[in-house]
Amino acid sequence: MKKTIPLIVGNWKLNPVTLDDAVKLAIQVASKQKKAEVPYVSVAPPFVYLSEVGKKTKKSSVSLAAQDVYFKNIGAHTGEISILQLKDLGVEFVIIGHSERRAMGETDEDVQQKVLMTIKHRLIPIVCIGERERDEQGHFFSFVEKQIRCLAKVLSSAQMKKIVIAYEPIWAIGTGNTATADDVREMQLFIESVLTKVYDRSTAKNTRLLYGGSVKPNNAKELHEEGNMNGFLVGGASLKADDFTAIIKAVS
Ligand code: 13P
Repeated sequence: MKKTIPLIVGNWKLNPVTLDDAVKLAIQVASKQKKAEVPYVSVAPPFVYLSEVGKKTKKSSVSLAAQDVYFKNIGAHTGEISILQLKDLGVEFVIIGHSERRAMGETDEDVQQKVLMTIKHRLIPIVCIGERERDEQGHFFSFVEKQIRCLAKVLSSAQMKKIVIAYEPIWAIGTGNTATADDVREMQLFIESVLTKVYDRSTAKNTRLLYGGSVKPNNAKELHEEGNMNGFLVGGASLKADDFTAIIKAVS
């Protein structure tokens, strides 16, 4: 994947309610995205729809992403999904450590193990980080730095360059309170400075960064052009094919 080409990922979360609607949405998104590569587009439906959605997106340039993965491959782990199962379905990206999963008890150690397992099987982790709230003193920067350092504890520079980091400030998710393009740009520079400190400049320049949090058709262009990240992780707006397509066009 060339970092110069933006990546737009639609995280469908726990939507839609029926397989029929999931297939319809997949067909609509795929039909608008026939040409390859500008930008890269992926959708992350709930696990139960991956197979059918994959069939509908197969002939388009839309790839398949999963919303989570377990860090063991086989055995007595009721309710879990393994990376081998995802790979078998043609999944390319795996969202890991989304704040909504961390809120349900996922730990930094879980995130580390899931990322390692995903890289080991040559899928691409999209690791979510981001502060709960912003404070005047800027403590949120240390929070984000801690999350990056936690990943860096288990990843070599070469591995870090293979993952995608999605900066998703929790206060911006599903609230309509999008970060400003300046906020996003500032965080892009900050994350690169942390990666430079921990690894080196080449790692910082080669690790893909996404922004997520109330990205909509009306703010996507400005956030992309001025925020200077390498794409978006989109929630609510990825559930309407027209909105998702408008966001894709805004970065094209
Ligand atoms: P919204 O775009 O609905 O704010 O969700 C962002 C998100 O959590 C994507 O993972």
